[in-house]
Amino acid sequence: MVDKHIKVTKLDLDLPNIDKDIRIKHFADLHYCSSYDDAKLEIIKRNIDEANPDYVCISGDLIDSTNFLVTDREKRNHLVNWLRELASVRPVFFSIGNHDISYFTSNGFRVEWNEGFIREIADIPGLVILNNKIVYEDDNINIKGLILPFKYYYTENRKEDLKKMLRILEEQKNRLSKLSSSKVNILLCHSPIYLTNEEVTKYIEGFDLVLCGHMHNGCIPPFLDEIFKGNRGIISPSKTLFPINARGIIEKDINGHKTTIVINSGIIKIQECAPLFLEKLNCFFPIGINDINVNRSENSKVLVKTSSYYT
Ligand SMILES: [Fe+2]
Repeated sequence: MVDKHIKVTKLDLDLPNIDKDIRIKHFADLHYCSSYDDAKLEIIKRNIDEANPDYVCISGDLIDSTNFLVTDREKRNHLVNWLRELASVRPVFFSIGNHDISYFTSNGFRVEWNEGFIREIADIPGLVILNNKIVYEDDNINIKGLILPFKYYYTENRKEDLKKMLRILEEQKNRLSKLSSSKVNILLCHSPIYLTNEEVTKYIEGFDLVLCGHMHNGCIPPFLDEIFKGNRGIISPSKTLFPINARGIIEKDINGHKTTIVINSGIIKIQECAPLFLEKLNCFFPIGINDINVNRSENSKVLVKTSSYYT
């Protein structure tokens, strides 16, 4: 079925001032769980190994809920070992999404952070969990995460809470503003919903790339995705119809600096916690992985080119 194929979205970003070209594999929304088909993990790993990128970025929702971490030791170990293999070859960065801190109950979700699991993957050599404290910097990149809490995602009106996000951004202002002009500045943020909001953009000024997930491509069927370009989806994870910032690439000029927001379409589109008949529809959606090439440019202009292909 289509869900064993990868749709690779290729992004070429020409940046002045950087010292070296870099290649990134980016994905989000693996939604790993007890019923997961592990063949998918192998397909993803093969795609990454063949491309041999400098870095791998995972923008949240590595797991579907924390439930299986305590009930299914075998699956938990399988996921940890897969991450260990990925990170043994190049740095892997992971920022936390709403499902990574959620326990699924018959009434919906409650917040449950599995400290043991987070510590276990944080100990994997080469894997960096980008929380609201850590900054990773090497000769080529300066990379940070922006983690939004459970209460930002799960509100009474089911809309993500812009005010809460602005409060966190204000707290994080100093950390987010320390950037490097000769390196690629990257932010991992699970939800892209408010990243084009004028109140929010001033906090992400100076970032070259913001890598997101969460929207599952707005659940747009693949054939419509090819016909209707743009960033709107059909439905968001919070059940908003025709959401903005649901898919694709968004180029945003923030006070003269071009920030490219990349919304990964997700490894899966419909999570395990959805009704079973909906989850079955996953077989009609390809695995979404982004290939991001950041190229050193002699030109002072930032250029962005995109294309896509199926494997
Ligand atoms: Fe997700």
